[in-house]
Amino acid sequence: VSTIGVLTSGGDAPGMNATIRAVVRTGIARGLKVMGIQKGYNGLLQGDVRELNARSVSDIVQRGGTILQTARCLDFVKPEGQARGAEMCKVFGIDGLVVIGGDGSFQGAEKLANLGINAIGVPGTIDLDIACTDYTIGFDTAVNTAMDAINKIRDTSTSHERCSIIEVMGRNAGYIALWCGISSGAEMVLIPEKQRPTDEEIIKTILENKHKGKKHFLIIVAEGIGGSYNLAKKIEATTGIETRASILGHLQRGGSPTAVDRIHASMMGAKAVDLLCEGKQKRVVAFKNGQYVDYDINEALKMKKNIDDYMYEVSQLLI
Ligand code: F6P
Repeated sequence: VSTIGVLTSGGDAPGMNATIRAVVRTGIARGLKVMGIQKGYNGLLQGDVRELNARSVSDIVQRGGTILQTARCLDFVKPEGQARGAEMCKVFGIDGLVVIGGDGSFQGAEKLANLGINAIGVPGTIDLDIACTDYTIGFDTAVNTAMDAINKIRDTSTSHERCSIIEVMGRNAGYIALWCGISSGAEMVLIPEKQRPTDEEIIKTILENKHKGKKHFLIIVAEGIGGSYNLAKKIEATTGIETRASILGHLQRGGSPTAVDRIHASMMGAKAVDLLCEGKQKRVVAFKNGQYVDYDINEALKMKKNIDDYMYEVSQLLI
């Protein structure tokens, strides 16, 4: 490998910039030319590609978002798009590619690898929903941002003795919600991996807690469960307890990455380049049992991830 490309794809995540920086600087240290591809696979198809040097990635380790920008590219799902992507890599002399993103982005990487452009995936998503890895870049920052917002809601919730429902991101996964629930001391966490209690069960628990002398009732709802506004209306109508819902939304995707995210980003970005240098084909970088490892992309995509049952149980014990 002599020239590598790097792109960010799918939803952005804090720490993507630190990953790009690690790819660029490790690449240069290994004697490679590094090309930055703008706006994910879209930019590749459009030839939006430029060489990056060590200074191109100065002052970004601490920045949220992605300097390469990102997109969800529908054309790249089709074989014609993938073939064009491989051709564009050849036009720019790119013989290895680092794709920072989630499962959808890795599928594209696998297709490119089948067409002769070796591609390595790096897990970047706030959702923590990639099965082969214990960590995905952006998760820690998103949880800290959400936790900070929940702390603030908790203040006003207690002052008014309200029930507060806070909906967090995560697509079909409940990791952000579960981590926020435990770290914020929420009374209830609703996640898609677990049977949702009925509205009646939720209301019964709220009333029991009120009788125990609790001054607020915080419910963290994962986006994959949704329905926060309706639930708030129903609780208020049935119990008379003032209830407010807040959907935290995209603020969870921004902000300066935490130290945890910067470290994983730096390690995983460097490892992706070293895998390319070693001539390893079609791999995904992962953090597993405290080690940085790599898996075959196809095997990684077939893996299933389960929520930690004990962690969920603890979230229910600590109220
Ligand atoms: O995958 C990251 C994520 O923020 C999910 O948590 C959420 O479901 C989705 O992206 C939102 O996507 P968009 O930014 O396109 O609205």
